[in-house]
Amino acid sequence: MRIEQNYSLLHHNTFGLAIKTRYFVEYESEEDLQKLLRDEFFFSQRFWHIGRGSNLLFLSDFDGIIVHSAIRGIEKIREDADEVWLKVGAGNDWDTFVAYCVENSWGGLENLSLIPGEVGASAIQNIGAYGAEVSERIEEVHAYCIETGEKIVFPHTQCQYAYRHSFFKEPENKGKYYVCHVVFKLSKKPQFRLDYGNIREYLAGKTASLELVRQAVIAVRSSKLPDPEKIGNAGSFFVNPYICIAHYEGLKKQYPDIPCFPVNEEVVKIPAAWLIDKCGLKGKTHGGAAVYEKQPLVIVNQNQASGEDIAALAAEICRVVKEKFYIDLQPEVNYI
Ligand code: EPU
Repeated sequence: MRIEQNYSLLHHNTFGLAIKTRYFVEYESEEDLQKLLRDEFFFSQRFWHIGRGSNLLFLSDFDGIIVHSAIRGIEKIREDADEVWLKVGAGNDWDTFVAYCVENSWGGLENLSLIPGEVGASAIQNIGAYGAEVSERIEEVHAYCIETGEKIVFPHTQCQYAYRHSFFKEPENKGKYYVCHVVFKLSKKPQFRLDYGNIREYLAGKTASLELVRQAVIAVRSSKLPDPEKIGNAGSFFVNPYICIAHYEGLKKQYPDIPCFPVNEEVVKIPAAWLIDKCGLKGKTHGGAAVYEKQPLVIVNQNQASGEDIAALAAEICRVVKEKFYIDLQPEVNYI
């Protein structure tokens, strides 16, 4: 187990904030995690488990223990003529894992290429992009309950997956389970999903393959979203809001171009990017934080922003959107 004191989290948050934690603990095995969950000092402190820090906003230095998993390894646990089951350590880098699946011709995750983060967090957030959600490929989530120290195997059906949601994000479960492994079921006979965004356009004239779809997703994604290595950001800052049909119909009279995606008979999903754009907020700044010009759903650390700058800009976006559309935007990013 690696333990550091007064440790910089600069490389553990994709906003690139130069914040520090009093302690940083990184475990490499389930045995180490079990030890940690029996430690009295650990429970006497404030603590928070992070992945790659691609969905976090630190408002100040962290006066407690930041925990990180370095459980790696990818194990093939089962296979048949059509499918393969992989048990993957939570601390694996997400995109390295996607690349590994594509190299092995195992399909299902290629549309989720280049998403920053780690495998454990992908199963909690239910990451999604270009018409795919990771939950479609998750068979089981293996996690430790921090209250009992017990390991629990959650079958897919217990994970309560929905758009950007899971059992682990429910208010009463948040921060309560530390994922150690995720079991994925991947296809040896992949079916490509090309209808979202410009993926099909990018592939025009070519026969789709896992590698080409991955390249297309990487190209489309890179053209719209800022690379956190170059300019700090946490991807989508807000989730796309759900509103009732009556509310949508009312807005449509005033804004005939309002886009929407039906969720069920009563509810539609509205792109937050459109709402923010329509409020004229592209490029708006607060201190060193700015609304990204090419995709206003993203807040960037343009010029040595503090966590407070980013939070203040996010609050301003929420206020303006609420005033204009009567819609409450909810951050996807977790504030620490
Ligand atoms: N739009 C505008 N102005 C803009 C940009 C977009 O009005 O400047 C409108 C357009 O109508 C566009 C719509 O917003 O059709 C949606 O934009 P986009 O297709 O780029 O996707 P999104 O809904 O903003 C979601 C995910 C992304 C994921 C993309 C692609 C959420 C919160 N975000 O974004 O996820 O990459 O779809 O599948 O669901 C992330 O989570 O960090 C992330 C980037």
